[in-house]
Amino acid sequence: MQRLLYEARDTADRLGVPVFLIGGSVRDLIMDVGNFDLDIAVEGDGIGFAKDYARTLKAAWLAHKRFGTATVTVKPHLKIDVASTRRETYPAAGALPQVKAGSLIHDLARRDFTINTLALRLNRKGFGEVVDKFNGRKDIARKLIRILHDRSFIDDPTRILRGIRFEQRYGFHIEPRTLACLKAAVRRDALSSVGPQRVRDELHLLCKEKHPLKSLKRLQVLAGLHFIHPRLSLSSAKQQLLAQAERQVSWFENQLPPHRQLDTWLVYFLALLDGLSVNDVHAVCRRFVFRKGEEKRMLVYAASRTRVLQALQKKEIRPSEIYHLLEPLSFEAIIVLKAKAAGKGVQRHIELFLTQYSGTRISVSGDTLAGFGVRPGPQYQMVLRRVFDAKLNRQVHSKEEEVALARDLARKPYD
Ligand code: CTP
Repeated sequence: MQRLLYEARDTADRLGVPVFLIGGSVRDLIMDVGNFDLDIAVEGDGIGFAKDYARTLKAAWLAHKRFGTATVTVKPHLKIDVASTRRETYPAAGALPQVKAGSLIHDLARRDFTINTLALRLNRKGFGEVVDKFNGRKDIARKLIRILHDRSFIDDPTRILRGIRFEQRYGFHIEPRTLACLKAAVRRDALSSVGPQRVRDELHLLCKEKHPLKSLKRLQVLAGLHFIHPRLSLSSAKQQLLAQAERQVSWFENQLPPHRQLDTWLVYFLALLDGLSVNDVHAVCRRFVFRKGEEKRMLVYAASRTRVLQALQKKEIRPSEIYHLLEPLSFEAIIVLKAKAAGKGVQRHIELFLTQYSGTRISVSGDTLAGFGVRPGPQYQMVLRRVFDAKLNRQVHSKEEEVALARDLARKPYD
């Protein structure tokens, strides 16, 4: 990180533009909280700076011309956002702001909370100096979330979600006047006036937090959850499910190899929507324009959770049955089912699926079957599935036994 900041300093001086580390990166630096994103603001041509900076770092970069911003990616996982400092005005409540070039101070003044208004000078002259126009450091020390002006939540109601998220993430408090403004915005139903996709992005960030339940509880108290769906609330059963989901996510991350990726936000979002009908979930997906893949994972879960949980409760259940029950579901949905499962038996079945059954491969291939005269078609599918099930159920123990079983099945007329 230090090297990246020194390179930014040298690039800034070479180009002769004032450059600052800004926003969340400075907040987290001062609070000594890990953060792998760097936000850089340039009083001048941000894209020009990013291009030069990326060249010195030998890093990839991508300009977003419409916004005058660029992203520099430093492998393996550092993201540097570069923007020209700007000023914003809100033409209507909840609408996207109108953006013009502006000074650093304008850029700080357009922000959500004082803790996000800090900037750190990166030019050699004054390197490391903190610009603190809105008492951000004082509020960090007092652990307070404070807006910059009373219209803040009306201009941008997604700040209701952001304020709650920062408050719960850092164990801060929303200060009294800010809380009054937040409640006033909620009374005006401000969250319904924002583009649903912007609300979705904030919900996504909220569910990406390490402990989303804390923020969801606070959200329920301060704003309710009906802005997501009129029938949605955070019952105590739902809170227990979310708490269990947090435990099951840790279990997954500790027990499964790192290449098994889990979209943790989706685990929590599925748990949050649990209990809504398939139609209601569909309505949420359409309103917030979730991606097709996300929508599918949500709908499959909503449509099959009760049936699958019931089936998994059966006393005598073979590994192949467990496999075919769980295989159509995403890992996220399976983790929510694990969180929902009351009995140890169901939990164990799901653990076996995730740690053993789901990685099962058989040695019989299309070529093997072609050798027995079986071509792609129903019989071909049947033979592969029976061999696969036999392997899961430990009825075959070696490649030879798998091939022998395939040969036997290939000889039988398909029924
Ligand atoms: N911002 C804002 N209002 C919003 C969204 C963002 O004022 N609705 C400002 C904040 O000052 C924030 C900065 O834009 O610091 C960057 O936004 P983002 O990357 O979302 O926030 P971070 O502060 O970096 O938070 P996180 O740690 O969650 O990434």
